[in-house]
Amino acid sequence: MGKQAGSSFLEHIRPRRIKLGALQLRATFCLGGFSFLAFIVLTITGVILLFYYQPGDKAFASLSEIDSALPYGGLIRSLHFWSGQMMVISVFLHMIRVVWSKAYRSLSEFNWITGVILLGLTVILDYSGYLLRGGQESGAASSVGQTLLKALPGGKGWAAIFFGQSSPVNGSTLDIFVWHVFILAGIAGFLQMYHFWRIRKDGGVRPL
Ligand code: HEM
Repeated sequence: MGKQAGSSFLEHIRPRRIKLGALQLRATFCLGGFSFLAFIVLTITGVILLFYYQPGDKAFASLSEIDSALPYGGLIRSLHFWSGQMMVISVFLHMIRVVWSKAYRSLSEFNWITGVILLGLTVILDYSGYLLRGGQESGAASSVGQTLLKALPGGKGWAAIFFGQSSPVNGSTLDIFVWHVFILAGIAGFLQMYHFWRIRKDGGVRPL
């Protein structure tokens, strides 16, 4: 009789057999797990911020209100900001670990590519989050990003789609908001699930 869906899911989360040494700290330094933990904190705090944040002209004022008027608002905002920075660092270190233990080789090439896309998404999420602050510095960061993107072939169209009508004094637009909250975060969440499933499929974590 075939396995029930529930039991094969448990088998995936806690497999009966793993490679010798895969549970040792130095096999992973828990960096992939730490990246995922940061993503979970980002998702929870991000959903709370969604209730009060207003993209566009009111962005800066709405964030100031979250800081001062909302109970624990400053804490939630800081947690969102700092887990974003931690995630960029830990995803990068996780990639170094994968190179160090040569875990990118067959059969894991495909997961390496998934990882490269996840690294790109993490950096763009961090950047777009910075633009959503809506202050003068986010306007400047938006101008730099737009200039870089427009220098690429076909970049003008992409800049219009990604940045919308952002002004040099305010990087926060509805377009950036939709990309940050729904499209990029959604794809990153889905790809992480795929990344985890693929680790088992490729034979588990590969210790040195
Ligand atoms: C959102 C970002 C990411 C998350 C949450 C994540 C998570 C994980 C986790 C939990 C593991 C299990 C082992 C460990 O914890 O080290 C893993 C393995 C792996 N990751 Fe990632 N990862 C991410 C990004 C990346 C990047 C940027 C790369 C490389 C470009 C990558 C390539 C791999 C490979 C090849 C494995 C298999 C390792 C092995 O066989 O030992 N991942 N990832």
